[in-house]
Amino acid sequence: MCGIVGYAGRGGAAGEIFECLKKLEYRGYDSAGISTADRGEIFTFKRSGRVQCLSEGIKSLPGSVGIGHTRWATHGAATDANAHPHVSGAFSVVHNGMIENYAELKSELAASGRKFLSQTDSEVIAHLLDYYYDGDLADAVRLTCARLKGCWAIAVLCTHFDGFAVACRGMPVILGRGDANYAASDVNALAGRARERCILGDGCMALVTPRGIQVLDGALAPVKPVFGALGAEEEGESGQDCAHYMLREIRCNARTMRRTCAAFLSSGGGAELYSRLASADMIVLVGCGTAYNAALAGARLLGGAYDCPVTARLAGEARCDPPRVTRRSVCIAVSQSGETADTIAAAGILRAAGAYVIAMTNVGYSAITRLADRVLPVCAGPEICVAATKSYIGQLACFHMLASPSCAALRSKCICAVADDVEKLAFDGEYALVIARLCVNSRAVFFLGRGADVEVAVEGSLKLKEVSYVFSDGLSAAELKHGTLALVDEGVLSVVLVTDAALADKCKNAVEQVLSRRGRVAVVTTLADVHAELCGRVDASWLLPAAPAHLAHFVAATALQLIAYRAALLAGHDPDKPRNLAKSVTVE
Ligand code: F6R
Repeated sequence: MCGIVGYAGRGGAAGEIFECLKKLEYRGYDSAGISTADRGEIFTFKRSGRVQCLSEGIKSLPGSVGIGHTRWATHGAATDANAHPHVSGAFSVVHNGMIENYAELKSELAASGRKFLSQTDSEVIAHLLDYYYDGDLADAVRLTCARLKGCWAIAVLCTHFDGFAVACRGMPVILGRGDANYAASDVNALAGRARERCILGDGCMALVTPRGIQVLDGALAPVKPVFGALGAEEEGESGQDCAHYMLREIRCNARTMRRTCAAFLSSGGGAELYSRLASADMIVLVGCGTAYNAALAGARLLGGAYDCPVTARLAGEARCDPPRVTRRSVCIAVSQSGETADTIAAAGILRAAGAYVIAMTNVGYSAITRLADRVLPVCAGPEICVAATKSYIGQLACFHMLASPSCAALRSKCICAVADDVEKLAFDGEYALVIARLCVNSRAVFFLGRGADVEVAVEGSLKLKEVSYVFSDGLSAAELKHGTLALVDEGVLSVVLVTDAALADKCKNAVEQVLSRRGRVAVVTTLADVHAELCGRVDASWLLPAAPAHLAHFVAATALQLIAYRAALLAGHDPDKPRNLAKSVTVE
């Protein structure tokens, strides 16, 4: 969840690393820091707060090699002392992941007289390196890594080495080559800098100097790295001049729908997938957060297309209480980043029990792709805003493709038609502001819907709460009277989704129930008659572009994303970096 960067070149390392860290900040923004090495000395500047806090302090860091870090705090508060890099003797270290046995290592090192300056698990790595070092950096890294339990990635600077080392187990490290040599947690950080990239193998290390990159396996045997060109997607998107990534990414929803369908159709593997799903005795979808909410929609879609039971499970629960799968079962692990610890664990457990695992992910080189039997790409492109938007829309598109065994091309065509409306909505959805204003002026916001709108309501609620910090919940409108109605009064807003004419009357009942308790109501609908009937009676009614009921979630979810975005701005928060959160939740 933290971001690490290494640079070995000819220019000023600190400035280069600073720019790379800015692109990794979505992985954590509790603190940031940079170390550089110059003429046998290490120079470090680190601060709690965002990467920008480094801008002045790093100006005095000399040298053309260095490492940097942006932190999402796990062990120890967001303080200067807990910020990375951590320094011991000749070493400076940045770390992503968790050292499960750090307490044991810390007492061992403390007993030998080493002083700790932070509460982090990471600081033990710097001390271990210094302890094991006898003039051979690779060997010190090897011996240190052998002591670390858990999943982690590290970058190491040593006063006696003109470059840096990186090593990883269970966490990604991408190596980059261009005018200088790089390493980073995510290829995004290298966009516009490296021309080629290579994924560091699990359990391997790399020694990176201004002259080249040497990769070694866990026993220090050389490994030939396979570099590929940085794809256009990875180089970042241009031409969409938005104030925030969140809006820019919502505006990519339509493109994601088109690309995801096209990738599925052109992959040529649909027939094999369909027959596997058709012969499955059970289909289990696992994911966390927004990916789980997409899985809820996926379960509805796949349940309508295949005869076996289809269930969506929270990955964090499924890993502790896994369903009884067989060799005929299929698990679909849904994850934007492909790095989410709970999703990886759940998929791994189900695979070990015999299930065929399909990874539905936005990141082609992620950990989940290495575990899965089959990868289904969600073509959203890099998603930087911590709140998932376009990746959710892409996951919905992917589920539609999976749920269309005999009509994928036709379904894709229909999705592309809806994408045109989603695009217009994302660029012109000004009415979102009206509902956003109601949200931020409410004590709580309930998102209500029936049928497929329930899943959209749950996701809309997650989006609102995470970026605006307004208390919110999403539930079936049928459930309102079974408890939640007790909370409704004039300080509470209910956002009622209505996209299926067959369920419209039931939704209208919910509107009446709320109005009769003096609750405030905003209607979000694709149905002109519902809008016409309710717009004069409720606090706001937003008529969205019409869409067939089974595809309306693309439109409704986009509208709710826009509401959340506007609410974040009205509440004065940075929508791209919600407090306490980070993207790629690689810890349990
Ligand atoms: C919410 C959000 C999170 C993620 C969740 C899973 O906007 O982004 O809830 O959806 O942490 O992440 P991935 O999809 O990367 O596995």
